[in-house]
Amino acid sequence: EDLKVSNEAILYVNGVRRLLSDGLAHFTLLEYLRDIGLTGTKLGCGEGGCGACTVMVSQYDRILKKCSHYAINACLAPLYSVEGMHVITVEGLGSCKRGLHPVQESLARAHGSQCGFCTPGFVMSMYALLRSSQTPPSEEQIEECLAGNLCRCTGYRPIFDAFRVFAKTSNDL
Ligand code: FES
Ligand code: FES
Repeated sequence: EDLKVSNEAILYVNGVRRLLSDGLAHFTLLEYLRDIGLTGTKLGCGEGGCGACTVMVSQYDRILKKCSHYAINACLAPLYSVEGMHVITVEGLGSCKRGLHPVQESLARAHGSQCGFCTPGFVMSMYALLRSSQTPPSEEQIEECLAGNLCRCTGYRPIFDAFRVFAKTSNDL
């Protein structure tokens, strides 16, 4: 059989290959995700300021010959801007049924989640930081990676405390 070049628009979401049907060109990634039932990613502002819609995208870099991972605001990303990439949402990390990811577990245990609406975004910012580097981040890098996430409830301290366990504690590590 001949190998045909496909004109299909494809997206991977939490490990599942998804064909993008026609008529989605005006969708943001956030609208698309919520539309397919992944409502863990929230709409807080729709203008890139609150981080409630943070997801991680992964892309193979042909020049560097490796996968790069970064956090993006799904509310600002046109759906087709991530075509061919892999999107991980909070549902892709873990769940109460399957078991929580350490980032989720730690945030919940350290009382870093009150109303909970900002929580998926904080989790995804932290997860993307961990995935994007080979070595544990510093505490400064952790605070920096959360700069685009707002929380109205906790005062932030329990969130930083929850994530501090992922920081390297000395330069020897
Ligand atoms: S919803 Fe606020 S940054 Fe996307
Ligand atoms: S826990 Fe309510 S906004 Fe963060």
